[in-house]
Amino acid sequence: MITRLNDINLRPYNTFRIDAKCSQFIEYTSVDDIPAIASTLGPDMDFINLGGGSNMLFVSDYNGVVLHSKILDIEMEHLGNGAVRIKAGSGVSMDELIERCATSGLWGLENLSGIPGNVGASAVQNVGAYGVEACDVIHTVECFDLQTNRFVKIPVGECGYGYRNSMFKNSENKRRFIISAVEFDLSTIPTPKIGYGSLAEEFGNCSDGNLTPLQIRDVIIKVRNKKLPEVDEIGSAGSFFKNPVVDKSIFEHIREQACRITGQNDVIVPHYDVSDGIKIPAAWLIDRCGLKGTVCGGAAVWDNQPLVIVNKTGNASAKDIVELENKIIETVEATFGVTLHPEVEHIGII
Ligand code: EPU
Repeated sequence: MITRLNDINLRPYNTFRIDAKCSQFIEYTSVDDIPAIASTLGPDMDFINLGGGSNMLFVSDYNGVVLHSKILDIEMEHLGNGAVRIKAGSGVSMDELIERCATSGLWGLENLSGIPGNVGASAVQNVGAYGVEACDVIHTVECFDLQTNRFVKIPVGECGYGYRNSMFKNSENKRRFIISAVEFDLSTIPTPKIGYGSLAEEFGNCSDGNLTPLQIRDVIIKVRNKKLPEVDEIGSAGSFFKNPVVDKSIFEHIREQACRITGQNDVIVPHYDVSDGIKIPAAWLIDRCGLKGTVCGGAAVWDNQPLVIVNKTGNASAKDIVELENKIIETVEATFGVTLHPEVEHIGII
C-alpha cells in the first residue's frame, strides 16, 4: 500500500525531534509498491530514503520527496550446519530484529543491540558497535535500481563497506537505489564477541562457553544506557562525529597537547591501529577540550558521552545544533590539530 502526504512535519520521523517540513512524504508497505513509486520520481526530483531518521539532521525544510519504507516482512532459511539466513524488510526496526534473533538463539547481530534505526538504513550506514559492524553479517542488500528500473541483489563484497560508510552513500548512488530488504547470515553456533573495552569489563571472568546471544544483548543495552541518551526521551542522533584516523605525527601532537592541558608528564591517548592510520575516540578529544555539557540554545553536549549532541530542551532548532557542531569542530581543531567530521547526515540548506 502506498500513502502519499503533502507538507508534513518530519519531527516524528527524526530522532533529533527537529521541526522541518517536506514537500511530499511517500510511505510504502510492500516491495511491489516500489516500481510504481519509482515511475513517479522525475529525473530532476530530489528525494531521500528515510529510515528511523536516527542519523539525520534536517537543517531546513526539505523541498523534495521523502520515501519511507514500512516493509516489515521477516523470513528465515536454515542453510545447514547451524547457518541461518534472515531476510528482513527495509522498514523493520533493527533493534526489534536483533531482539527476535537473540531470543531465538541466533548469533551475529547481538552486539548491535540498542542501535536506533531501521534495517535499510543500517545497511547504508554500516552501523557498528562493540567490535561488530553490520557488514560482518550482511549477505546481500536487495534494492530497486532506478537507473535500470530493476530489482538487484547486491552481494556484501560489492557494497563498498567501510567505517560508517558504503557505496550507497556516494553522491551518485543516493538517487539510484531504494533498498527493499537485507539478508543477514547468522548462526546457531555460539560466536560471542565480548573483547571490546567496556564490554570486556562487564563480562569480567565469565566464560564465553556459557553465554547466550540474549545475555550479551542485555549487557550491551545496560552499557549503552549508562552512556547514551534514550532517543524516546531525549532527542539525539547517537554519535554525532566519526572517530578520526590520524598519522603518527598528529598522534604525537595530540599526546603532547593532552600533557600540556592536564599538566601531566605522560598521558595515555586511547587509540586503535587501523589499516590507514591510528583511530582516536572523538569523545576523548571533545572531553579533553572541556566541552561536556556545553550548551547552544536548546542543544547540548551529552555529559556521559560527549560524542553525542542532544536536543536538551526538546525545542532545539537545527541552527542551535549546527552552532554547537561548529564550536566543537573549531575547539578540537585549535587544541589538537584534528578536524572532526560529522557522522550525521545534514539534509537541506542552512
Ligand atoms: N571517552 C571519554 N569521555 C567520555 C566518554 C568516552 O574520554 O565521557 C573516551 C574513552 O576513552 C572511551 C572512548 O572515548 O574509551 C570510546 O568511547 P566508547 O567506547 O563509547 O566508543 P566511541 O568510539 O565513542 C563508538 C561508536 C558508537 C558505539 C561505540 C561502542 C562511532 C562514531 N561511535 O563510539 O556508535 O556505540 O563505539 O562500540 O564510531 C553511533 O554510531 O551512533 C554510536 C553510538
